[in-house]
Amino acid sequence: MKPSHLFILESAVAVSLLTGELASPSFAQSADAALAINAGTSSASVKVTDASNRAWFIQSSSNFVDWEEVETIQVYNGIYQCSGKPLVSGNLFYRASVVASSFESSVQNALRLPGFLFNYAQPTLPPSFNVPPIVQQDNTPANNPVTDAGGTLGRVLFYDKRLSFNKTISCSSCHQQSHGFSDPRKFSPGFEGGLTARNSMGLSNARYYQRGHFFWDERAATLEDQVLQPIQNAVEMGMTLSEVRTRLAAEPYYTNLFNRAFGSSEVTDQRVSRALAQFVRSIISTRSKFDAGVPVGFSNFTPQENLGRQIFNGQVGRATCTACHGTDNFVPGPNINNNGLENPYVDKGLGGITGRPQDEGLFKVPSLRNVELTAPYMHDGRFKTLEEVVEFYNSGVVAHPNLSPPLRVPNPPGAPLRLNLTAEQKAALVAFLKTLTDPNIATEPKFSDPFNYGN
Ligand code: HEC
Ligand code: HEC
Repeated sequence: MKPSHLFILESAVAVSLLTGELASPSFAQSADAALAINAGTSSASVKVTDASNRAWFIQSSSNFVDWEEVETIQVYNGIYQCSGKPLVSGNLFYRASVVASSFESSVQNALRLPGFLFNYAQPTLPPSFNVPPIVQQDNTPANNPVTDAGGTLGRVLFYDKRLSFNKTISCSSCHQQSHGFSDPRKFSPGFEGGLTARNSMGLSNARYYQRGHFFWDERAATLEDQVLQPIQNAVEMGMTLSEVRTRLAAEPYYTNLFNRAFGSSEVTDQRVSRALAQFVRSIISTRSKFDAGVPVGFSNFTPQENLGRQIFNGQVGRATCTACHGTDNFVPGPNINNNGLENPYVDKGLGGITGRPQDEGLFKVPSLRNVELTAPYMHDGRFKTLEEVVEFYNSGVVAHPNLSPPLRVPNPPGAPLRLNLTAEQKAALVAFLKTLTDPNIATEPKFSDPFNYGN
C-alpha cells in the first residue's frame, strides 16, 4: 500500500515526513485531513479528521524503517476517533495514509441506526394537541405525512455533512439538539466560515406553525420548500441539488434508506426535501413542566412560576404576550408582527422582500417552546438572556409606525406599551418561560446524531 499522505508522530511531537516540518504538538496536518495520536505505553487514542471520509491505514514503528499495521479505519462524516486502542508497545512513531481502493461503507458500521425504526409518525401527544386550536395548526401537507422510515432518512440527512460543498457543515451545525435545534452563536458560520445574516431558529414544534411559512421573514412558502434552501445557500452549505443527488446516490447506505422511505432507491430533490421536512416536523416538544401542568391546573408550578404564567396571560399586569405567543404551543395566531425592536429596522424583515414600508420590521413570531435553550434571542440575536428579553418588553419597546397593536397604548395614540413590572414580577415571567423547556428534546436519541465516529 503506497501512502499518499504521511505523518509521523512521536508522543507529543508530530513531524511530517514529506516536508520534514515540525507540526503542532500531537497533531499533523495536510491540506485536507489531520491525524492526532496520543500514544501511551500500551494504548493510544486516535483521531482522524477528514472531510472526504476516506479510509486510513495506520501503522507504527520503532525505527522509521519497519512499519507494522495498527488498523485500517473508515472516517464517517468527517471524524473517526477511538481511545484505548492497543498499540504495539515500544513503537513511538505512527503514520497514517489514505487507503487507495474505495472502502465499502454499510449501515452497520457507518451509522448507529437501531435495528427497529424509531417512532416518528405517531408521537404521544397531550390531549390538548388533538383538539382545536392546536390540531388545526398542524402544517403537515396531505402528500407528505411523517412516516417512521421518512423520519429516519431525514435524520441521517440532517446530520450528514456531505450536504455542504466541502463536507464540513450539516443542518445540525446550526440547529443543535442540545440548544433546542438552534445555535448558541449570534450568527452561524457556514461552510466557508462566512456568517449567516440572522440568528438561527429553534425547530421545536415547527409543525404547529399554522401559517406554514418559514424563516424569520416567512419567505419559504412551506417547510418542504424551506429545507432545500440552506443546502443551496451561498453562505450556509454552498451546494447544488444535482451534486447532492450524486453524492447521496454514491453512498450505499442511502440506497436502503430511500428504499424504505419512498419505495425505491432513487434519489430525487423532492424526496430529500420531503424526508428533511418529515424529520423537522417530528421534533415535537410535549414533556415540559408546562405540559405536565395543563391537566392539573398548574398545581405542579411554584408560586413564582404561577405568577409568571398569570403575567404572561395578562391576568396580572398589562402584558399581552398571549396575543402573539398564544395557545399551549406558544405559536402565534394568523399574524406576522413588528414587536418594536428598533426604528428604523436595519433588517427590514418582510419589508426586505416586499419593499413596502408597511412591512418594515415584520417578523415571524417564533414558538417559545424550549426558549430557555435557544439563546440568543430575536432575528438578530440581540438579547443574550431571557432577562434581557423581559426587560425589553417591560420598558424597551420602540415606537414604530408598524408596531403591532398589542404592544401599543391608546394614549398617546400608538405609543409603545410599558409594563412597569416589579423586579419580582420580571423574575417570575422568566421562571414561567423556563417551564416551557422540555429536557427530553435535547437528548432524545431519535433526534440525535446517528453517525458513528468510531468511539
Ligand atoms: C450555516 C447555518 C445553517 C445551516 C447549515 C442550516 N440552517 Fe436552518 N437556519 C439558519 C438560520 C440563520 C435561519 C434563519 C434564516 C432567516 O430567517 O433568514 C434558519 C432557519 C431555518 C428554518 C426555519 C424555521 C422557522 O421556524 O421558520 C428551518 C426549518 C431550518 N432552518 C432548517 C434547516 C435544515 C433542514 C437545514 C439543513 C438542510 C438547515 N436548516 C441548515 C441557519 C442554518
Ligand atoms: C405584537 C406581538 C408580540 C407580543 C405582544 C409579544 N411578542 Fe414576543 N415576539 C414577537 C415577535 C414578532 C418576535 C420576533 C421578533 C424579531 O426577532 O424581530 C418575538 C420574539 C420573542 C422572543 C424571542 C424568541 C426567539 O426565539 O428569539 C421571546 C422570548 C418573546 N418574544 C417573549 C415574549 C413575551 C414574554 C411577551 C410578553 C411580555 C411577548 N413576547 C409579547 C411578537 C410579540
